[in-house]
Amino acid sequence: MPAESGIAEAAAVLRDGGLVAFPTETVYGLGANALDARAAARIFEAKARPSFDPLITHLADAADLEKLVGPVPPAVAALAERFWPGPLTLIVDRPAEIPPIVTSGLDTMAVRVPDEPSARALIRAAGVPVAAPSANRFGQLSPTRAAHVVKGLGGAVDVVLDGGPTRCGIESTIVDARGPQPVVLRLGALALEDLVEAVGPVTVRPGSSGQPVAPGTLAAHYAPRTPLRVVTGARPAAGDGVRRGFLAFREPPADGYAAVEVLSPAGDVTEAAARLFDALHRLDAAGVTEILAEAAPDEGVGRAINDRLRRAAATWDAAG
Ligand code: TXA
Ligand code: MG
Repeated sequence: MPAESGIAEAAAVLRDGGLVAFPTETVYGLGANALDARAAARIFEAKARPSFDPLITHLADAADLEKLVGPVPPAVAALAERFWPGPLTLIVDRPAEIPPIVTSGLDTMAVRVPDEPSARALIRAAGVPVAAPSANRFGQLSPTRAAHVVKGLGGAVDVVLDGGPTRCGIESTIVDARGPQPVVLRLGALALEDLVEAVGPVTVRPGSSGQPVAPGTLAAHYAPRTPLRVVTGARPAAGDGVRRGFLAFREPPADGYAAVEVLSPAGDVTEAAARLFDALHRLDAAGVTEILAEAAPDEGVGRAINDRLRRAAATWDAAG
């Protein structure tokens, strides 16, 4: 249903323990009442998400943070103040009201206030914090349109609110600012440069680990079903009879590809990020044998684009 007119009904579904997919400025989320362990369990089931992968709790307003978790460290409060509502997820102590299933048993909780009026209206109307991962099956492409959600999760969701394509197109940046120097756990829609400008030097946690602190940082993740390879340097010649798709950053490739997507003819990383998953969804549906993807410039949100492309490619490296 349309995001504007569906809020009241969707909020009632959330309060009753149901699942509501809703737009945020980053990607569509699959929401449930974060105070309700059974509702949260349904998220894991619908996504086929491993229980060790904790959810992000969404709030309607920055002022709700301390109401839920009590006082937070000054650096956390400063980041919330500066960037909320917006594509920044912060790590705080898990309050007792939030059942451990939401945080996969961690004593910390990821939390953010999305910068999307309908999402905030939904959370406000529900009157509860909303746990929401991206509304895709585990490991697959994140949805940036309501149609992506319906295609990927279909009947597993009670309501899908359609707010059109999402503005940022890539997930939030996750930061743990509880220690002496903020640690970026996942690159995302809030550019590293903007973060550094606000808080000074940060550490970017490289790669992944076996017991993931942020499984969105698993080496293999965010993957289309079609094998994907990141090309650097010269573009491989097409025309060997293999149906290939090409994801270009700025310039379309020479003829010979079965499907081509150009992320930003103007060469703008923000525009490219907004179109990334939509383009990958289309290439994935184009019936090609392989997708070649060109890296973005390693600046601003371009870093997050390249991070997602590397992880999509790693799925296929891992599969051999
Ligand atoms: O933009 C976004 O963040 C979207 C929208 C819907 O808000 N959500 C999203 O959720 O990307 P998800 O579940 O796909 O990714 C959340 C990431 C996961 O990698 C998870 O491991 C990490 O957040 N995370 C959650 N709780 C955590 C915690 N306590 N400590 C560290 N990482 C955590
Ligand atoms: Mg996700």
